[in-house]
This record gives sequence, C-alpha cells and structure tokens, in this order.
Amino acid sequence: MLRRERALVAAAEIGRRIGPSRVLTDEELVASYAGDESEVPPVIPAAVVRAETSDDVVATLEVASQHEVPVTPRGAGTGKSGGAIPDHGGLVLATQRIARLKQIDRANRIAIVEPGMITGELHAAVEAEGLFYPPDPNSLESCALGGNVAENAGGPRAFKYGVTREYVLGLEAVLMGGQRLSVGRRTVKGVTGYDLTALFVGSEGTLAVFTELWLRLVPRPPRTATALALFSDAAAAGRAVAAIVAAGLTPSVLELLDEESLAAIRARGAVPVPARATALLLIEVDGEAELVELELERAAEACEAAGAVEVLVAQEASQRRALWAARRELSRSLKAAHLHKIAEDIVVPRTAVPEMIARTREIGRAHGLVVATYGHAGDGNLHSNFLWDDPSLSPEVERAVEELMRLAVEMGGTLSGEHGIGLQKAPFLAYEQSPQLIDLQRQVKAVFDPKGLLNPGKIFGRSGHGAC
Ligand code: MLT
Ligand code: ZN
Repeated sequence: MLRRERALVAAAEIGRRIGPSRVLTDEELVASYAGDESEVPPVIPAAVVRAETSDDVVATLEVASQHEVPVTPRGAGTGKSGGAIPDHGGLVLATQRIARLKQIDRANRIAIVEPGMITGELHAAVEAEGLFYPPDPNSLESCALGGNVAENAGGPRAFKYGVTREYVLGLEAVLMGGQRLSVGRRTVKGVTGYDLTALFVGSEGTLAVFTELWLRLVPRPPRTATALALFSDAAAAGRAVAAIVAAGLTPSVLELLDEESLAAIRARGAVPVPARATALLLIEVDGEAELVELELERAAEACEAAGAVEVLVAQEASQRRALWAARRELSRSLKAAHLHKIAEDIVVPRTAVPEMIARTREIGRAHGLVVATYGHAGDGNLHSNFLWDDPSLSPEVERAVEELMRLAVEMGGTLSGEHGIGLQKAPFLAYEQSPQLIDLQRQVKAVFDPKGLLNPGKIFGRSGHGAC
C-alpha cells in the first residue's frame, strides 16, 4: 500500500476510536497544518488528528505505530525551525485542544498544565496569584507550552531566569506505540534515576508527545523597570552588554537591536526610536523597587562608559508596552520589509557578540544580502537575519547561512539557542557535534521510537529515519 493510503487507513481507524470529528482529511483543512513560522517549505500531511484528551494521543500513536505511519506532533505551529512540518507526510497530531490549566499550587509553587495552553495565558494566570513563570518566547501570545517544552524555548528573560528546561519538573508523555509515561517529579528537589525530563525537554517532538506538564513557578517580582540605551553602532552596544555583566549586574532582559532591525521598527511606525540611534539595548531590571532603580542606574552607567549616546528610562507602563510590542513584532517587521528572509538563532560567548555582529555583516555583504541582527545579547544568542528581494540570490543565501553556522561554532558557540535544529539546521549538525555524539543520540531516539516514526527528519536530517 502506498504511504499516503496507509496513513488514510490509519486515520480512519483513529477516527473510529476517538470520534471522526477529531480527524481531518479534507484537503483544505489539512493544508493549514502544513507549515510553521520558519522559512522551511510546508508539506501537506495525509490527515490531521486534533486530539482533545490524552486518550486521543494514546490511540493515535498506537494505531499509527501499528500501520507504520509517521506522526508529526504539533503545538500552536509557531516554531522557527520546521519542527512541526510533516516532512514525511503521514499524520499531524495537534495537541492545541488539550489546553487546560489544571492547577496552580501556590504553596508548592507549581503549575500543572496541558500542552496546548498558550504561554501568555499561563503568565497571566500565575501572575494573578503573585507568582511568575519566566520563560517568555516572543510569540507568547500565540505559542503553546507543549511546543515551548519540545523546543526548550528561551526568550528575552532567559538572561536572568534561564530557559524552559529550568522550569519543567516533570511531565506526562506518550511514546510512539501508545505507552504512557510519567517522568520526573512534582517536588522542587529529586534525583531518582536518570533525568529523563531534561532529555524530553528540547527533544523537538522526536521522542514522545506530551500530555501534561508540571512547571516550577517563582515569586512574581514586585517591580520592573525598562530603559533604552542608544548607541551609534552595534559593536558598542555589544561591548555594553559585556560591561553590564562585568559590573556584576543581572538585568532580566538585555536585548540588542542593530541598525537594520531599528529601520524595520521605524518603518512600521509602532514606536518612536530616536533617529540618532543606530543600535540599541533594551534593558529591563526586575525585583524589589529600591534595588531595581539602583540596578538600572548602574546598567545605564555601564552603557555610557561603553559609548552609549543616551539612555532613556521608560516612564510609563504604556511606553514599556509599546517597546515590547515593537520588539515582539520585529521578525514580522523584517519580513514586511523584504520579500525573503531567513532567520537563525546562533549563540556565541557574550564577549564575542560585537565580533559576531560585524562578521555576519561581512558575510551578508560578500553575498549581496542585507543583514539584520537582533536578539538576546546577554546570552550571546543572536537572531541573525539574511534579507533579500531578488529570488536569484537563493544560492548565495545558502552559502551565507553555511558560513554563519561554521563561524558560530568556530567562535566557541552553538547552532541554536532556542529555536531548535528541526529541519532548518539539520544539515549543519555535524559542524558542531562529533559523529560519535550524533550516533549516540540516534541510538537514544531508537530506544524511544525504534521504527523512526515520530517526527522523522528532525534534528538528524532527512536521511536519518529509515522506516518512512
Ligand atoms: C525572537 O526573539 O523574537 C524570536 O525568538 C525569534 C524571532 O521571532 O525572530
Ligand atoms: Zn528569540
């Protein structure tokens, strides 16, 4: 039987088990599950299961495994590396409708949530209880917690608070084949057995499908203050980041935007960025009110010493909101400014940020591409964007991306800080990891998914999974 027919047979059987309304085969509906927010071309699956309960997930993975049909798990589809693209066809298993907030336990500072819950909604719910869930990918109004955990998402606050992995105490998951697993713990401490929770976080949907997440919360910081440090070049802004850290400060946010990124923000007219700035740092400090003022002042001094033209402190909550709206929209603003864009999320040691920005610009220039760099400079995590309008430049873009990836690794960095390897960066995995390490990870994958059916093609590349 052909692969697509096999998938449709499996879909029909899943429909009989969980209810046909939860299984889509209509071409138009199914097509809306073909892509994500990366630049990887979409692939239309044979069918989509819109799971509403963990039992639906079990049934899907059991039946798909019996029929040897590939399954691509999908949260909200906001991923940036092609992780939710059903590259091998088969079924998409969408968990967006398994989305309850099951519990906020204030005394133990834990939230129990289902994977389809929108991240921003969890923020609002826990903040109303005086608690805080720090991971804040910029798509927080639309991304889902299950996807955040699958990708080990970061975001601007990772500089102070760390990434998603640091907030996942445990989870419930279903393996390809339909076996349920409880992994980890609901206590703050716990060292029983191997830390499989840490393995599942960031596994990009290749090991299991999550059905419940046990998340660690922290107290909500009483005050947050925001400042913009304006610079006449990105290198100076990069040096200011290192100076802030060297001064012993830990702002919650240290975001850098270069000239091209500022141009995109200005073009959208969303927030007035003074014309004298050709680069800026968005700095945020949170904590007790008195300390916040002091820390922001010291960060401003460090910026001035590193060559800031001016440091502006946001006076009103509305100014802060406008700044964040502009920052969160930046990727879309860049997309609006050029016909084509490819965005990466390399990380280099933070002291190498100025050099990385300059060398990325050189790579762009050599290949006739516009470069915009912005991102979580405090972590050395840069969103390096190549932008172009002439489609004939595509081969140049491929070469530029390859050079960028090699350079990030040569400079002591890594391919991806938060978006994952997915399909987009799979061709470059061997730049960073040895053949032995890659092989060991493939073996780990095979323990959980011996037939290679769960999210095939991701991390290890298209030839990595024989079964489908
Ligand atoms: C961001 O920081 O804005 C996102 O991680 C990536 C993006 O939208 O480019
Ligand atoms: Zn980011």
